[in-house]
Amino acid sequence: MNPSPNLFLIGPMGAGKSSIGRRLAERFGLPCIDLDAAIEQRTGASVATIFEIEGEAGFRRRESELLAEFTTRTGIVLATGGGAVLPIENRALLRQRGFVVWLQASVEQQLQRLARDRQRPLLDAPDRRERLEELARERDPVYAELADCSIGSGGESCDHAAVHIAALLEKHWQRTPAMKENA
Ligand code: S3P
Repeated sequence: MNPSPNLFLIGPMGAGKSSIGRRLAERFGLPCIDLDAAIEQRTGASVATIFEIEGEAGFRRRESELLAEFTTRTGIVLATGGGAVLPIENRALLRQRGFVVWLQASVEQQLQRLARDRQRPLLDAPDRRERLEELARERDPVYAELADCSIGSGGESCDHAAVHIAALLEKHWQRTPAMKENA
């Protein structure tokens, strides 16, 4: 949504949503909320443990609950998880309550960035490339349909990407002031 007081980052694993989110939040003087980190904090369990005990469905339920809570705030940067856009209700909330930026990364870039990652349950696959390609086929149209603006973030450091994205946002994001409770 534009204009909006909130900035919501969407995109695949390894696109840098959390790291870039922190930098953009600093740049715009807003608090940054990382949805995965918030889920872990609330439950006291890692994303991997939640997947293990409750399955993906349990994780998605918790993710949707917190997404609904955080998107009611004003004046935040929210870094979502790669699959947070899947439930249609989540997409409606993201669309209605913030300026949505799709951080794009190619499968090649994701593979490089996530090479040492053992925390993401969806990457626990015999062929990671195939898994990431499958997720991209399923999700890219969803990201595309939801995003107010999109930018490649996988080909450079998060510091550089954040500078480029901030410049893009200066042009395209019509930022409105946060309301009192968050100011
Ligand atoms: C997921 C992405 C992860 C995390 C979970 C599921 C996904 O977040 O929410 O492992 O479905 O793509 P990041 O996109 O921050 O890695």
